[in-house]
Formats: sequence, structure tokens, C-alpha cells
Amino acid sequence: MIKKIGLLTSGGDAPGMNAAVRAVVRTAIYSGIKVLGFERGYQGLLDNSYYEMNTTSVSDIIHRGGTILKTARSESFKTSEGQKYASFILEKNEVDALVVIGGDGSFRGAHELSKFGVKIIGIPGTIDNDIYGTDYTIGFDTAVDTVVSAINKIRDTASSHERTFVVECMGRDSGWIALTAGLAGGAEDVLIPEQEFSYQDCAEKLKAGFKRGKAHGIIVLSEGVENSDIFSKTLEKHLGMSVNRTVLGHIQRGGQPSSFDKVMASKMGYWAIEELLRSREDHMIGVKGGEKVLVPFKDIFHNKKDIDPVLLDMTNILNL
Ligand code: ADP
Ligand code: F6P
Repeated sequence: MIKKIGLLTSGGDAPGMNAAVRAVVRTAIYSGIKVLGFERGYQGLLDNSYYEMNTTSVSDIIHRGGTILKTARSESFKTSEGQKYASFILEKNEVDALVVIGGDGSFRGAHELSKFGVKIIGIPGTIDNDIYGTDYTIGFDTAVDTVVSAINKIRDTASSHERTFVVECMGRDSGWIALTAGLAGGAEDVLIPEQEFSYQDCAEKLKAGFKRGKAHGIIVLSEGVENSDIFSKTLEKHLGMSVNRTVLGHIQRGGQPSSFDKVMASKMGYWAIEELLRSREDHMIGVKGGEKVLVPFKDIFHNKKDIDPVLLDMTNILNL
């Protein structure tokens, strides 16, 4: 019987996390379950920092970026003493299960905590879309829209001055944001950590484009490939013309979530409670082909989410 759950957001914030918080809280209350919202991720468990959430605690948040529960990266929780103490806090507060909204690091933490007898369900929230077992993570769609809107603005200047721009986007070791935004933004080249690149090829592609009459050269560079300052300076030498650089940074993490992210976050929050009521634990909720899937936490760490090769091929044809 689940009478009380804990809820926390952990790791990097992502637009749509609030919509997931709202869905978890309202579905739980509808199902007769109390919700304790722990603040600042796992650090909030260690600090016993929580408040009881009701339906109005989540009013007016579905459209807001960030997370009302705050988030943090907690080093103390990484130790087994930390995890043991967190399980003690949950027991002391008579919490029967925990819902964790975060990225793969947060799920590693969740899996460790489950070894101390805590029932946990995860909801994937990270702009990187790098979690194995799910097509989408909360925040990815919004981050891609942010990058595409930046590319569109940069293209105005690039075309007017007939220049080359490198646009550096986030993604850590994953190229999902760069590849998707590069395709949607009509970039001339997209460089991602999953694929080797050569300065020579990149410069040749740009030169050929200018020769065919293109007015701009836009390269989307995923942060995991190379430092964009070094990249731009090296490319300049191969290209023989100036290269401008824009680092998009944390604007990709904030802002109003897209409708897609809000709907997906709402579904995942709802599904999380549905699965806890079915006694599911130590799993992450995911979505595949639009349908709910359940992914064991340990499968997430033992597998890497691949880039869609079709997207990559398509990008290389459509940017001609
Ligand atoms: P994300 O969840 O976005 O990938 P992090 O990798 O920073 O973000 O992880 C969030 C938090 O999860 C960390 O601050 C830490 O408290 C916890 N965590 C991450 N990795 C582990 C691990 N291997 N064991 C235990 N806890 C972990
Ligand atoms: O995981 C999300 C992310 O924004 C990555 O794309 C990026 O590498 C990292 O977090 C930046 O983390 P922070 O904001 O903590 O420096």
C-alpha cells in the first residue's frame, strides 16, 4: 500500500520539469496519496528539507521553466553512507516510495538508494535526450526550439555579411540537441561527438556551398566535440576566411516549455503514479513510438543511447 510518496528533481534543470511535478502531485492526491516535495534533489533528502504538497502547490506552474522544487548536484549523496542516511530520512517521514525526476546520474543515484529498500520510479528530465530506453526526455524539445530560434537569428547576420558562424550548443557527450536543431535550422554542417570530423572536410563543404551561391555558412557544434574557440580558430585557417562563434550556453536550459514537453511531462508524471500503484519500482518511465515503456534503472547505465543514423544521413543531404 502506498500512502505517502517523496518527490524530487535532480541534476540539471529542464523545461517541463514543473509540468511533471504538477502531474505527479495531482495524480497522487487524486489516488489518495500524500506527497512530500524534497527540495534541491538528493541534497534535500540529506537535509530533511521538504514540504507537504497539495493541489494548489502546483497551480500556475505548468508553463514555467526550471523547477519549483529546486535542483542540485549532491556529492554527499554519492557515498553509501549518504544513501543510507537518505533511506533513513525517508523511513522517518513514513515515505513509502520516491519519484525522481532527473537525468542518468540521478538514476544511478536512485538505483543505489533502492539497494537500501527504497521503492523508486524515475522520470527522464534533461535537455540532452541522452537517456537509453526512451525516445524523449523532458526539456529536449524546448531546448531544440531555443537553438533553432538562435540559428535563425544568426543566419540573418551570416547571410547579410556572407560569413561563417559556429553555433555551440549543449548536450554533454551527446549530439542529439545539435543534430536535431541543425536539421530543423538548416545548418550547413552539424558536428557531434558520436561522429569523427575533419577540419578539411568541413571547410570544403562550406567553400562548395559559397561557390554554389549560398550566402551563409552555419555550423552547429555540439559541446562534446571540441572547444568552440579552438574549433573556430582552426577552421578559419582551413577556410581562409573569418569565422564567428556564438556559445548558446544556459539559455538552452530555461524558458517556457514547448507544448510537446508539457504534454509528455504530464503523461510521464501520471504514468509514474500509475506504475507505483502497480508496485513497479527501480524503473524509469519512458516513451517509445508514443507509448509508455518501463526501463530498469540498470539497463540505462549499461547501454548508450545511439544517435539516429537516418537523421545524420538526411542532414548531410538536405544541407547541400
Ligand atoms: P543528471 O541527473 O542530470 O545526469 P548528475 O549526473 O549531476 O545529473 O547527477 C545528479 C545527482 O545524482 C548527483 O549530484 C548525485 O547526487 C547523484 N548521482 C550521480 N551519479 C551517482 C552515482 N554513481 N551514485 C550515486 N549517486 C549519484
Ligand atoms: O545535462 C544538461 C546540461 O545542460 C549539459 O548539456 C551541459 O553539459 C551541462 O548540463 C552543464 O551543466 P551545468 O549547468 O551544471 O554547468
